[in-house]
Amino acid sequence: MKPKKEHVLLLWVLVCFGVTGAIEPISTTIAVGMAAALTGFLASYQNIFNYFHECCRPEWIGFNKTGLKTDLENKLFGQHLASRIILKAVSGFMSNENPKKPLVLSLHGWTGTGKNFVSQLIAENVYKEGMHSKFVHVFTSTLHFPHPSLLSSYKSQLQQWIKGNVSNCERSMFIFDEMDKMHPGLIDSIKPYLDYYEKLDGVSYRKSIFIFLSNAGGESIVETALDFWREGRAREEIDLKDLETSVSLSVFNNEKSGFFHTSLIDKNLVDFFVPFLPLEYSHVVQCAMAEMKARASEGEGPPDLDVANQVAKDLIYFPKQERVFSVKGCKTIESKLDYYT
Ligand SMILES: *[C@@H]1O[C@H](CO)[C@@H](O)[C@H](O)[C@H]1NC(C)=O
Ligand SMILES: *[C@@H]1O[C@H](CO)[C@@H](O)[C@H](O)[C@H]1NC(C)=O
Repeated sequence: MKPKKEHVLLLWVLVCFGVTGAIEPISTTIAVGMAAALTGFLASYQNIFNYFHECCRPEWIGFNKTGLKTDLENKLFGQHLASRIILKAVSGFMSNENPKKPLVLSLHGWTGTGKNFVSQLIAENVYKEGMHSKFVHVFTSTLHFPHPSLLSSYKSQLQQWIKGNVSNCERSMFIFDEMDKMHPGLIDSIKPYLDYYEKLDGVSYRKSIFIFLSNAGGESIVETALDFWREGRAREEIDLKDLETSVSLSVFNNEKSGFFHTSLIDKNLVDFFVPFLPLEYSHVVQCAMAEMKARASEGEGPPDLDVANQVAKDLIYFPKQERVFSVKGCKTIESKLDYYT
């Protein structure tokens, strides 16, 4: 018997409530019968259910392009390239009803330049629940996959997680932090999900988003930024083509980087390499001001430029002679602010 549409809908509502476990032992026929009996009663409440419980539905998942654009403009500092690429990539992907492969972004750059932060901005403008969404998954190499000896169990676990989560919701997002510390074998194991397959084992991964974060390539990005600075050219003049070869080459050639051993790049599975420039004094000041503004909206005093400058002066800058770029980017701003305010 082919279940009627509203039965499927009801079962789906139950599934969305996370009660699959409870109905699993019951045969489908009974479940469908039950569903039939309950449909009339529950269907009218469906909207209310969905309203309160995060589901894989447009009420909870939907791209806000204006939101992402405003966030990138107002909250991310000193990253004209990353800003532009991210907005274009995510907008293009989310407005495509029929993508041929999942969106794969690889974010590269020095520490504290905003890679994690940008992933968060993307999540917040796709999922109502942002990073707290149950459809957003973060894996940190040193945290989730610390022991090389457990590689094979990590592999099957990770594959199961990705498959299980995408089966639940095709609009899932996976963030892999410290990608450069991830075992090449483990990277290999996720390759099939990034590829142009219509379906793998009955599951389509084409509407998912994969974001890789790494410091790989960071040093060559710094070199380029420093060259521009030394020539007295504006940092906003740095073009993707000034970095593209250096980033992909260094990612490729750096043997410590897992990318080297894999054919992620070779097979063009990464759609966009996104470079993050090292941050200068003025950007650190902007970060501090933004953080104070956020705190002000939570009841603390108004932003104070003197404090922001104090915080920025406290950080360490490199290279030793010129002291142009913040060693830790905007990373330690929060704790520094706690100290000064
Ligand atoms: C999208 O983002 C803008 C800017 O942050 C916001 O004003 C608007 O309410 C958002 N739209 C939706 C549908 O959430
Ligand atoms: C989804 O991923 C998480 C890890 O983020 C994992 O704990 C969970 O078991 C996965 N769900 C499924 C259904 O595989």
